[in-house]
Amino acid sequence: MKQIIIEQNLNEMKAEVLIIGVPEHPENIEGWDQFASTFNTKLSDWVKAGDVKTAFKQIVRMPSFGEQLYDRVLFIGLGARKSLTEDRLRQAFAAVGKELAQMKASSVAIWTTPFTNDKLTCEDVASQAAEGLCLGSYKFEGYKTGSNEQDVSLDTVTLISLADAQLLKEAFEVGQIYANAVNEARNLVNMPPNLLTAKEMATYAQGLAAKHGFEIDVLGKKEMEELGMGAILAVNQGSVEEPQLIVLKYAATDTWEDVVGLVGKGITYDTGGYSLKPRDGMVGMKGDMGGAAAVLGAMNIIGELRPEKNVIAVIASTDNMISGEAFKPDDVITSLSGKTIEVLNTDAEGRLVLADAVTYAKQAGATSVIDVATLTGGVIVALGNDKTGALTNDEAFFETFMHASVETGEFVWRLPLTENDKKRIRKSDVADLNNSPGRDGHMIFGGGFVGEFVGDMPWIHLDIAGTSDAASAHDLGPKGGTGVMVRTLATVVTRMANTDLANE
Ligand code: BES
Ligand code: ZN
Ligand code: ZN
Repeated sequence: MKQIIIEQNLNEMKAEVLIIGVPEHPENIEGWDQFASTFNTKLSDWVKAGDVKTAFKQIVRMPSFGEQLYDRVLFIGLGARKSLTEDRLRQAFAAVGKELAQMKASSVAIWTTPFTNDKLTCEDVASQAAEGLCLGSYKFEGYKTGSNEQDVSLDTVTLISLADAQLLKEAFEVGQIYANAVNEARNLVNMPPNLLTAKEMATYAQGLAAKHGFEIDVLGKKEMEELGMGAILAVNQGSVEEPQLIVLKYAATDTWEDVVGLVGKGITYDTGGYSLKPRDGMVGMKGDMGGAAAVLGAMNIIGELRPEKNVIAVIASTDNMISGEAFKPDDVITSLSGKTIEVLNTDAEGRLVLADAVTYAKQAGATSVIDVATLTGGVIVALGNDKTGALTNDEAFFETFMHASVETGEFVWRLPLTENDKKRIRKSDVADLNNSPGRDGHMIFGGGFVGEFVGDMPWIHLDIAGTSDAASAHDLGPKGGTGVMVRTLATVVTRMANTDLANE
């Protein structure tokens, strides 16, 4: 979206498509009668007759009626007005965004009042309209040749509201920043693995750093060898692509203290290595860098909104391949932390690269850490494809995080990590840890393994194996990369900034 226009007058709703939110009993909305009369039609009768639906997310399209300031009208049912929340607004606008993409509309007008209630202001509507429309209308460009059809994308949004125009504009822009970052993360997840190599990911991160003024370090194979990053190097051993540890620093304060670390799994392709994936299970493993995409997406938002919180992002990127040089089950490797690891399964590679990335983050000053990864099939067995699994060692940190996830509507569910689980991760005849204690509850072993490297820092682990890549269209977008956790990570950093300020 390129342009946002704020108008106060209902008669100024010039656009290709007019979007009308219709909650139950719309006649109770202040201004509804005047609104209906601007169309010179029996809008309220249509609602009564059920031609225009009030059920949540039900869309009815109509050609223009009455005056000709717009070509088409799109009614979106909102259900009970009092049960509208930011999350429901976002969903409703995403549904509208999907429809608009099909309609190939480039300009829309929205009267904000029907979307509000005693908790939701016009600014809330503005930011969720931006977020929802932009997320819902997302489409991955792809690489098809021969199509002359030009994609029309939404370009101008006019909001009709009496609220302060500047505040509305700002709220809308924040929504856009969030959604654009999610869409960029979706692009990364959707890119094929021959094009998105570790080096390409580093190039993308360089671009982000240049755009936002982040400090950036990219460690290649040689630097990793010098530092002794034996875990990520082991995973990379069978590959012809160089591994990359991508480090972005966003310094909000003069001193580099109270730093939150965002650590992402950036496996650009996971064949499983010698513990080879079955042929059907391998397809889709281009998305095994969803954690990296989430972290880069969050950094994109942080770079725009510039919260008062120091952040270090660390992405461990390589593919997991097979060759005469590849690592294998029974190998024992030494991680950056000095801890030794018995490799029982080369397909449990995510926890290995994260081990070194978390250790690096800690050595570089992180005082708390969130790691994000498409780590285990186990989380899908436990929670399905619509919930992110979490582990933590810190109740207060997790509470802050959960508030953020409720705000963004990204569902997260915590699993336990017990002393018994840790015992099993530490059980090995030859090394300090093993990378695959068993398949029973193995989401916990995957995340718990990463936890072995965080020490006393407050830590949250997020397993997005189920939520990062959607098999079919969902509430906020099409099938493919979802950009899950981009918005929650950015929100939690913003919240941490506010809490730190409050404690000063
Ligand atoms: N990348 C996979 C996890 C995954 C599964 C992501 C499905 C997305 C969708 C990960 O590296 C993996 O293979 N995990 C193994 C761990 C096992 C060997 C202990 C798994 O979950 O089966
Ligand atoms: Zn794997
Ligand atoms: Zn993997």
